[in-house]
Amino acid sequence: MTHDPTEFEQRERIKSFIHGSADEACRLIADEIRGLIRTNDAAGRKTVLGLATGSTPVRLYQQLIRMHREEGLSFRNVITFNLDEYQGLSREHPESYWRFMHDQLFRHIDLPAEAINLPDGTLARGEIFAACAAYEAKIKALGGIDLQVLGIGRTGHIGFNEPGSGRESRTRLVTLDSLTRRDAARDFRGELNVPRYAITMGVGTIRDARRVRLLAWGAAKAGVVAQAVEAAPSDALPAGLLQGHDDVVFHLDAAAASELTRARLPWLVGPVTWTPAIARRAVVWLSLHLQKPILKLVDEEYGENGMADLLTEQGPAYEVNIRIFNQVQHTITGWPGGKPTADDSHRPERATPFPKRVLVLSPEPSDDTLAMGGTLRRLVKQGHAVTVAYLTSGNLAVPDEDAEMAADLMLELSQDDRGIGAGKADFARSVREQILSRGAFAADSDEVRRLKGLLRRGEARAALRVLGLPAERLRFLDLPFYEKGKYRQFRIGPADVTAVSALLDEVQPHQIFVTGQAADPSSLSAVCFGLLRQALASPRAESWLRDCRIWLFAGTDRPWEPAEVDMAVPLSPHELSEKISAMHHHKSQRGQAAALAHGTNELWQQAERQNRRLAELYDHLGLANYEAIEAFQRWNA
Ligand code: F6R
Repeated sequence: MTHDPTEFEQRERIKSFIHGSADEACRLIADEIRGLIRTNDAAGRKTVLGLATGSTPVRLYQQLIRMHREEGLSFRNVITFNLDEYQGLSREHPESYWRFMHDQLFRHIDLPAEAINLPDGTLARGEIFAACAAYEAKIKALGGIDLQVLGIGRTGHIGFNEPGSGRESRTRLVTLDSLTRRDAARDFRGELNVPRYAITMGVGTIRDARRVRLLAWGAAKAGVVAQAVEAAPSDALPAGLLQGHDDVVFHLDAAAASELTRARLPWLVGPVTWTPAIARRAVVWLSLHLQKPILKLVDEEYGENGMADLLTEQGPAYEVNIRIFNQVQHTITGWPGGKPTADDSHRPERATPFPKRVLVLSPEPSDDTLAMGGTLRRLVKQGHAVTVAYLTSGNLAVPDEDAEMAADLMLELSQDDRGIGAGKADFARSVREQILSRGAFAADSDEVRRLKGLLRRGEARAALRVLGLPAERLRFLDLPFYEKGKYRQFRIGPADVTAVSALLDEVQPHQIFVTGQAADPSSLSAVCFGLLRQALASPRAESWLRDCRIWLFAGTDRPWEPAEVDMAVPLSPHELSEKISAMHHHKSQRGQAAALAHGTNELWQQAERQNRRLAELYDHLGLANYEAIEAFQRWNA
């Protein structure tokens, strides 16, 4: 397929489609695969598919399973080769890719067992080289891969080709990048348990496929997708090495495409309709790009940066500057619940009703404090009735070491000669034994999960106490989809929606703070956001929803830029340090930072840095110079 870009795609070196949703994209790719299989079947040829694991392709596999069940699509003449496998895991290991593929696809279709190929993660080191060569030879002997499905890692990896993998690399043993291992840490209950090595097809092997279809969902992938599509290819970003392939397509949802120039800075590549939102985005960008406060921008600078027609329509620069400056200024408020008795015509939130019933929906204990600890503190201080609801227990994210420590503590208490804590000894002993005896890989028992969940409750209570919120304002929903589920494979059921609906009915909030709207649909925060949407669709919500504003907070994996912010809540140095002490209470979450860039190793360091950074950007725009800022976007249900 030749790439014949429109003017908006002129910077794109890889054909990219932006879809309305991941499901819509997957239907299209499944259609393509069905077409390929049927054409090959009719010609008496086998179809060779290259497959990926991870959360990204799961929806695609569900479509293929549906086609098999409902339309009789047969995989009898299909041969599959998987991209990669962890080294050192048995096939039956819950995190092995062999197991993943069987659970997610192979068991549900009529693909013959002998047509399935995955790198063998159980081989001894000395056998791997020859096995990799044999894998390559087998692909070649079968005529090569017709269509390769890919995801993309946040390091820009494809398969497990981490940065540094060359264009010509072939199937081989590789060392996993630390960010990749960190991303997998939750699946393995702690980074320590994540394998260090994997066997992967090379970039060269992938490039040999006749068609390559890369899928990406969610804002966390946006940066790396834009680099792969628009930057000059380099070994530092293996997905970018797909540039120049004859038939490669990236299928993206809007969030994953949000950093492409056509989405982020469209005025640089073509004519745009200057809606208030685009005008604001463009002027804020121009100010930051030129490192000049908004009020000092001049007509020539607009003209030289693709914004001449904005001035023609709405100029001169002086007028536009003032208008946008005021708009950005009006996003700032120290009164996140609205300022009673003040004129609210230019404030992000209404003055009345006052006080407000505020509901914070936090996917896991800690998301609330990281994103909006300072805002929470203000809401409480300003007299609002704040309820923080933790939708899940978060127990899957607690490392064993923490549970062991808690069990030890319980055991010691139970042996206290004053009899304090007697009666809990059996529970504590059993948890300790289970952690010791179940090996690194078996799933946690209900008891272990219970203790880990309780630990997170304790951390959340301690954190919110620092922010002035008493324990009785906290709600722990422990939604069943999480208690029964695994990261990236959650399935919500009616009981989850009922629990969220019941909470909304009870609180009848005037404000809801929530996250996950632009996240990968299989992520925990997206699942939680989906639950809220379902609950809001219930007729029972109608009575209070009219009087409710919904505010989104961003995940730490992609913080918002000033132009994306509708409410900016400044934090004083004292408030920031209180927020930091609150965040420190989430001890079990140490070492979980979503990105290692900028030397931030801890989630709280990352949150602090992001809050400070946003304040600096507001300062660069020529607005007040605050210590830190927390940010929210308004969402219309
Ligand atoms: C999977 C693979 C990886 C993933 C990538 C994205 O076989 O090789 O490159 O595609 O890490 O993972 P998810 O989809 O879980 O975000």
